Amino acid sequence: MQVLVTGGAGYIGSHSVLTLLENDYEVIVYDNLCNSSAESIERVKRLTGKSVDFIEGDIRDKDKLREVFEHHNISVVIHFAALKAVGESTTIPLSYFQSNVHGTVCVLEVMKEFGVNNFIFSSSATVYGEENDVPYDENMKLGTPSSPYGANKVMVERILQDLAISDPQFRAVSLRYFNPIGAHESGEIGEDPSGIPNNLLPYVAQVAVGKRAKLNIFGGDYPTQDGSCERDYLHVMDLAEGHLAALEWLNKNESFRGVEAFNLGTGNGVSVFAIVKAFESATSKAIPFDVAPRRSGDLPAFWANANKANTQLNWQATRSLTQMMKDTWHWQSNNPNGYAK
Ligand code: NAD
Ligand code: WQD
Repeated sequence: MQVLVTGGAGYIGSHSVLTLLENDYEVIVYDNLCNSSAESIERVKRLTGKSVDFIEGDIRDKDKLREVFEHHNISVVIHFAALKAVGESTTIPLSYFQSNVHGTVCVLEVMKEFGVNNFIFSSSATVYGEENDVPYDENMKLGTPSSPYGANKVMVERILQDLAISDPQFRAVSLRYFNPIGAHESGEIGEDPSGIPNNLLPYVAQVAVGKRAKLNIFGGDYPTQDGSCERDYLHVMDLAEGHLAALEWLNKNESFRGVEAFNLGTGNGVSVFAIVKAFESATSKAIPFDVAPRRSGDLPAFWANANKANTQLNWQATRSLTQMMKDTWHWQSNNPNGYAK
């Protein structure tokens, strides 16, 4: 079975490609490398001993996408490609709508031209917005995220719903990721942010490796147990296996039509202070930190109700917080400059 993976050279994409290859799927990666390196795919090939067809291209380039569909017998598209920096999306919102919403529409249009009806979308916990109580479950209404990035994810989820109403053959799964961290256990592939990391774990890892002096913990006065924000961190390999589970669910449920959303998280909230402690004890590296002012747009605490993925996809996050920390460090210490030579 041939799977087109947009954004497959990126952090979550590369781990998911590895899992798909290990499960005997044929993978075509389509990525413009705007936030990744083709080296990730080379390493995935080495780790799995399998081949991957890699095409450098932009999802907004419909002619190039058409060529890919012409030359392959694609059954399903897993769509990771997107710009993903929440803060940046507030400064260049049009670029975010252009890549993340228009780009997704381009992919869906070309799929339609070629009669490909199966779509797995990288959604996010951010779609629950501020309105919903924790833990988030899939029956809740889509919320109003505070950033253009979050709005992009809500818009795409709405587009998928409208498309499913208009097209009785369309089958989509929206996977709402919580906070993916960690790396493949080999330490060969992992998260390679450009510039100053926005996300917590890449920042912590760069402090540990000596690239940054100390961590700023954004807010110590939230109404949480220890005053710092709580999030649902899950291992990126568990997340990768969530994509495999979603693909197998689509394959098994032949009569399914429409869009189904699934939360992919552990169901546990973990604070920033707890992350720092867990990293220090898993790696024996000290993480100096300051408690800094709150970061604009951060919610105090959210985590998943992951029951639906558990019962319907037969998926559960199994890797521990300690494993997430060890694997983050393994990747970072082996690759202090990421994929750069
Ligand atoms: P990433 O930046 O590592 O991967 C995204 C990939 O898409 C990159 O390789 C990039 O080069 C590519 N890309 C971006 N725009 C493109 C375009 N116009 N055409 C072709 N390729 C393009 O990010 P990631 O963390 O792996 O995220 C993957 C997906 O998961 C994204 O859709 C993101 O919004 C979503 N997501 C991520 C998180 C997270 O915390 N990392 C959480 C929830 C959802
Ligand atoms: C986690 C916690 C920060 C950095 C974002 C997106 C979300 C999803 C995942 C894509 C927060 C704190 C962070 C630092 C800190 N992405 N922190 N110091 O904000 O939960 O989620 O990424 O869909 O949509 O919003 O993740 O890793 O940025 O932050 O104290 O240097 O760590 O305040 O409480 P977040 P994060």
